[in-house]
Amino acid sequence: MVVLAWSEAYSVGSAMIDSDHRILINLVNQLHDAMETGQSRDVLCSVLNVLAEYVEHHFHREELLMERIGYPERATHIQNHRELENKVRAVRDRWLAGERQVLDDEVLTFLKRWLSDHILRADLAYRPWIEAAETRGGSGDGGGAMTL
Ligand SMILES: [Fe+2]
Repeated sequence: MVVLAWSEAYSVGSAMIDSDHRILINLVNQLHDAMETGQSRDVLCSVLNVLAEYVEHHFHREELLMERIGYPERATHIQNHRELENKVRAVRDRWLAGERQVLDDEVLTFLKRWLSDHILRADLAYRPWIEAAETRGGSGDGGGAMTL
């Protein structure tokens, strides 16, 4: 069952970041499905690990992009990333430590809300800087066109 779906309204104007966001949404949906259908510990464990790792990988990528486009609010955004990363890691670690109830509806709701809220509010806020960088056609460092 799809509990969260990517839509054009979520587009931040970067194909790379949009693709990451689709993957993250997909992983949260997979986690939801695995819980709902009572999948084994191994299955849940691998989905949780992939989610936690992908979140970190994606945030790092997004932080580099924010720097390249000169997004002025990036310090607050990065702080927000660290908090979210810690939360996802804490859920994974508590679950691995045997606290099975940590993955209850509340946590899944948090993950879904976090994804849609973060993408819709925090991430969409840097879209104008992506568009401005595209208009300039380069990163300003003489290195040619940016991969956005
Ligand atoms: Fe972000």
